[in-house]
Amino acid sequence: AAAALQQQQQQQGNRAPGILFDIDGVLIRGNTVLNEAKEAFQMLSKRHLLKNIPYMFVTNGGGTTEAHKAHQLSKWLHVPVSEKQVVLSHTPLRMYEQYFNKTVLLIGQGPLKEIAASYGFQKTLDLDDMRKAFPLMDIVNMKVRKQLKSHPPTPIPVPPVEAIFVMHDPLEWESCLQVLIDLLISKDGVPGTLDSKQHIPIIFSNADFLWMAEHPQPRFGQGAFRLCLEALYKELTGRDLLYTQLGKPFGVTYDYAEKLLNEQAQKLGYDGLSYFYMVGDNPRSDVRGANSRQNGRSVLVRTGVFSPHLDNDPSDPAHFVVPHVRDAVQLVMRHFD
Ligand code: G3P
Ligand code: MG
Repeated sequence: AAAALQQQQQQQGNRAPGILFDIDGVLIRGNTVLNEAKEAFQMLSKRHLLKNIPYMFVTNGGGTTEAHKAHQLSKWLHVPVSEKQVVLSHTPLRMYEQYFNKTVLLIGQGPLKEIAASYGFQKTLDLDDMRKAFPLMDIVNMKVRKQLKSHPPTPIPVPPVEAIFVMHDPLEWESCLQVLIDLLISKDGVPGTLDSKQHIPIIFSNADFLWMAEHPQPRFGQGAFRLCLEALYKELTGRDLLYTQLGKPFGVTYDYAEKLLNEQAQKLGYDGLSYFYMVGDNPRSDVRGANSRQNGRSVLVRTGVFSPHLDNDPSDPAHFVVPHVRDAVQLVMRHFD
């Protein structure tokens, strides 16, 4: 393998190919690690290729820190994984320095304030802070309504919201949709005020309409939540919601991942990255994203969102379609033999 790699390096002018691994529907389904994933990484370790191939994990999932995801991945796959090899849906938020000192509302699950602080955001709020500031906001919930009657709360004020980050699939959609609409129609980031134009910027980290967990059918993702918010905003105001979208298949996430892959390649002694394989299960995010990059090669697996009955995806056809990640890795390894 080493000789083949050397030959490949010479062909590529000492530039190395790399691999981007998707996580959900490729390596895991919900909390279950796929056997083929463990086998794939065992194979790569045995061939000592893990030491020679730059590789990363790029997921539209989130709600955790890169360090924690790296730790989970190394436990699942029995290989060392560093946080620099992990790009979560919200990782590119690190680049939004203009909001580091602004008040940002974070929506989703997990330790969002901790994650945002690790990126540099100093002033963050979550749904609970908004509830404490505006106790009547959740009046649709009959349990809350009863409690409010018996124990009228004293509001704990929050500063005006200056930006919104949807960082992960939210729970309690009715509360999230209501508070986001309140803010998006507001004049100054204070629910209750009103203006004829959208003042508050909103960034979504993941556009996936569907994703694959343990259930046999795909589940709704953050993209489905965004569609609901857009529909409500349009119905209420007649205007289209203005938003920024991160995650696969968008350039911002691929730029970020490729930059890290390139750095890894250089650390391994190459001049840089030649091209990359994206191993994914979702044609709309993984395949579309890789196909839109000049140096991207898409490898679609059948263990996730992609329908097992089709030869290839009609709208976003992959360069290669294989049953699972072990075969995907074998395909990549053939390029080294
Ligand atoms: O919420 C996670 C999901 O939308 C997709 O994750 O790893 O398949 O990009 P992944
Ligand atoms: Mg996936």
